[in-house]
Amino acid sequence: MENFVFQSPTKIIFGKGVEASVGEEVKLHGTKVLFHYGGGSIKKTGLYQRVVDSLGAAGVDFVELGGVQPNPRLSLVHQGIELCREEKVDLVLAVGGGSVIDSAKAIALGVPYEGDVWDFFAGKALPGAALPVGVVLTLPAAGSEASDSCVITKEDGWLKRGFSTQFNRPVFAFMNPELTFTLPPYQTACGAADIMAHVMERYFTNTPHVELTDRMCEAVLKVIIKNIPIALREPDNYEARAEIMWASTLAHNGLLSTGRTGDWASHQIEHELSGIYDVAHGAGLAVVFPAWMKYVFRRDVQRFVQFAVRVWNVEEDFFDPEGTALEGIRRMTEFFRSIGLPVTLRDLEIPDDRLKEMAEKTKKGPDGTVGQFVKLTTEDVLNILKLAK
Ligand code: NZQ
Ligand code: ZN
Repeated sequence: MENFVFQSPTKIIFGKGVEASVGEEVKLHGTKVLFHYGGGSIKKTGLYQRVVDSLGAAGVDFVELGGVQPNPRLSLVHQGIELCREEKVDLVLAVGGGSVIDSAKAIALGVPYEGDVWDFFAGKALPGAALPVGVVLTLPAAGSEASDSCVITKEDGWLKRGFSTQFNRPVFAFMNPELTFTLPPYQTACGAADIMAHVMERYFTNTPHVELTDRMCEAVLKVIIKNIPIALREPDNYEARAEIMWASTLAHNGLLSTGRTGDWASHQIEHELSGIYDVAHGAGLAVVFPAWMKYVFRRDVQRFVQFAVRVWNVEEDFFDPEGTALEGIRRMTEFFRSIGLPVTLRDLEIPDDRLKEMAEKTKKGPDGTVGQFVKLTTEDVLNILKLAK
């Protein structure tokens, strides 16, 4: 196990009806908020009005900015920053899924910064301060409600980039599983793929002796595998929705990375798909992850055998570890397919004429490679995208 620092300070307020007290919680951080939301699902469900009422009852003043699109855009972030400055806002309240939360985080980073907030995403500057962000979560997927990262798309060049800093950790997150009953089946499934991907990015590591976090990762995966089909059959099954919602947070709040080095190549490769083609992040991951696995599993066959046996209940063939490992990958791919996700670029209706461009654009480290489990060159990334066809 490696040395680590674990600091995940987000206050989680979880359960039925909890969002009724969001106004009181906001008041602990100030008296004026930016109420930030997406394309309108919260108006249809009545959540918008409940948040307005709760803010009003607590005597909190607000300005609002809706219209966050999935794969949130830099131009709206710029608008939000201006609005917060003009209105002297104390906190950004994100009511929605990962896209709304990330847009809120970027606004919060940009308000006290004199330059362009994109500088952080381009690796040109580091923040010294940020406004606090609060969350009412409506979609368990990205884990942004407690994560230290934020992913924004710059329309000029369709660059989708993530940026991680402790300033990105929301100060609180209201998590009511009932708010997820209205999710379309496809978003529920995309959320599952993203949650599983967050766990698997951490699971496939070269760090030895990480028994505890291995077992915790496996537990989160198994809970998702069990409960997603239930939630798809019975969208208002509270207990299934609750398991999924809490799993989404634990998958990405840093707990499962303690003491180990994660990989993250699949996420970087996927960001090119959703950046250019505007597909749902989870759907892109369901396509990229199986291809990545098939490309790299020989680096540590035994780890993939463990994944197959413990997570997918594959019977271990001691004479054919590669066969056991591949059976685990096959079962995962089949699971994605069974919940309605695409598993190839063709399923996603992505043509294969820009694979080289995507491989080149995929964000690399200073040594020109991406990923840690296996350090991938641009050519490797291209091979993975070809495997995903
Ligand atoms: O915009 P509205 O109308 O609210 O509709 C949304 C949106 O169309 C809808 N939705 C959300 N909650 C709903 C609902 N519809 C009905 N009922 C509800 N309760 O769902 C659609 C997708 O929402 P979005 O926020 O885009 O999805 P998700 O939560 O999957 O977030 C995806 C974004 O998060 C980034 C992704 O790259 C992507 O941009 N990620 C952020 C991370 C982080 N900050 O830590 C980590 C992740 O790896 C990921 O990269
Ligand atoms: Zn993700």
